[in-house]
Amino acid sequence: MRLFANRSLGFVLPLLGALAAAPAGTFRPGQPWLDTAGAPIQAHGGGILVQSNIYYWYGEDRTTRRTSVSCYASTNLCDWTREAVAFDPAHLPGDLRDRSFIERPKVIFNPRTQKYVMWFHLEQRGYHFARAGVAVGDGPAGPFTFLHALRPIPADFGFKEDDVDQQKQFGGTFRDMNLFVDEDGRAYVFYASEGNWTMYVVRLNAEFTGPETPAVRGQTWERILVRRMREAPAPFKYQGRYYLITSGCTGWTPNAADCAVADRPLGPWESRGNPCVGPGAETTFGAQSTFVLPVVGVPGGFIFMADRWNPQQLRESRYVWLPVVFKPDGSVTIPWREEWDLSAFDKR
Ligand code: DGJ
Repeated sequence: MRLFANRSLGFVLPLLGALAAAPAGTFRPGQPWLDTAGAPIQAHGGGILVQSNIYYWYGEDRTTRRTSVSCYASTNLCDWTREAVAFDPAHLPGDLRDRSFIERPKVIFNPRTQKYVMWFHLEQRGYHFARAGVAVGDGPAGPFTFLHALRPIPADFGFKEDDVDQQKQFGGTFRDMNLFVDEDGRAYVFYASEGNWTMYVVRLNAEFTGPETPAVRGQTWERILVRRMREAPAPFKYQGRYYLITSGCTGWTPNAADCAVADRPLGPWESRGNPCVGPGAETTFGAQSTFVLPVVGVPGGFIFMADRWNPQQLRESRYVWLPVVFKPDGSVTIPWREEWDLSAFDKR
């Protein structure tokens, strides 16, 4: 479908009206996916923000040497128009600019400040820098201005003196990450920490630009999935319960997903095993979680978004999007589908 070919969505959308008015196409997990200009979508390790009934997909543009953050827009989740480079690593401050690259960017909107806030994994060769990068913008497509690089929790959990990640000095590492805004308006960052051994969930400050301070374990942040070696966190909430899909830590090689559940964002989180079902379920269908998207206007309609990485040529990596299915007992499954559309959510 090429509804918006060669046009900026910002220009045509006011004419389109409600989100539901846009016709939907089909999703073909693992198949090439072109934007409305006919170019392969570059939004790996990404996530989606919904604003004024428009979906904005942010992710890694791997066509550039050090990964810029792309922003695409859609009203039907199938047809995506490239809006902008939302953040270019060239705009990092001088001491970071030439050495750093970006992974897994996510954006949330802060109604209090009216700012769009981007977080990402800011990294350097060897993966030992392991910081969060935070940038702020006035509109969904940016441009975003870099604010700071940080490790949100500086606590020392007995880290070794000679730790190559320098956690004793700077706190737990920050690698694969995601953001989550709860119904009460509070935001959280989930990230693989402690050398990827343990995940942290940290409530954000009122501006969403850093951790809530003073940071108090058990009240404003928590260690979760302790010593489980999980990454690629994808949190979501349904009917008052919190869900967290993660992957194992095997680099670019796919492995089995896990879905954990909790009654509160800080946990306790209880692992419920692999939600994937069907051929390829043991490797998350050859992919790795990146986000779970609540579909606008579809109660209980969630899309599991994952990356099928191509380590030889990361720009060639594909997307695996599948509908999440809730079982009557509240547990989650993600069955494989060759091709599907949003009417999958009508048939439940
Ligand atoms: C797995 C992570 O999930 C990716 O985002 C990336 O950091 C690779 N590891 C690098 O090996």
